[in-house]
Amino acid sequence: MLRSRSLTVLSLLFIGLASASAQPGAPDPPKFASDAERHGWVLNTLMPWMETLSRTYHNVPRSDGEYLRWLVVAAKRKRALEVGTSNGYSALWLGLGLEATKGHLTTVEIDPKRVQDAQGNLRAAGMLGKVVTTLEGDALKVVPALEGKFDFAFIDIGPKALPFFEAVEPKLTEDAVVAVHKPPSADALSDYLEAMKKRPEWLVTVVQTGARTGIAVSVRQPR
Ligand SMILES: C[S@@+](CC[C@H](N)C(=O)[O-])C[C@H]1O[C@@H](n2cnc3c(N)ncnc32)[C@H](O)[C@@H]1O
Repeated sequence: MLRSRSLTVLSLLFIGLASASAQPGAPDPPKFASDAERHGWVLNTLMPWMETLSRTYHNVPRSDGEYLRWLVVAAKRKRALEVGTSNGYSALWLGLGLEATKGHLTTVEIDPKRVQDAQGNLRAAGMLGKVVTTLEGDALKVVPALEGKFDFAFIDIGPKALPFFEAVEPKLTEDAVVAVHKPPSADALSDYLEAMKKRPEWLVTVVQTGARTGIAVSVRQPR
């Protein structure tokens, strides 16, 4: 009797913990018959729900996400790094691209609550621990300790990106593509764009997808 009561208490505790980690209003993923069905649900159900929260989580606009996915596929990227996961919206776009290239994303976020939300969204999308790994911590400390090199980096950290680029730079392959998200304010990324002028090996193009934000895309010129 005592044993079965303890089991019931334990089960309730488990259910409580499980539901505590779910985000209020998050759509439940159905059983998917194929990856195409899963991708359709991510694009048409999960992402539109996340877009209703984008002001809270400071996510990239959808058109920037679409561009990032295209870039990863077009440039055939395999080993990607993201700085600034938030709740995983841009990581989902990068993840869709990396599923196509059979690549992998490591994404770093300092806020533990946001890491938890990102994990919930990436798990629902079938990407967590497969195409995407989340890391919690200050990217300025986490990135220098990562093993191996990355052929793609997406830095989405607000208007002052230079220290984060400097942390990422030693971890890049020679042919790496670096995308830095540019918030709408006029002087956003001025530190980063000025510093890139002093690195003539990098070709920098600021892309606008139609949103008020931009993406500074940099590649090294072949020697
Ligand atoms: C603009 S949001 C990222 C939005 C996300 N890329 C998306 O589009 O879904 C910037 C994020 O960077 C995180 N952040 C700020 N400083 C950080 C640091 N030193 N290391 C890691 N993450 C940091 C913030 O907590 C915030 O969630």
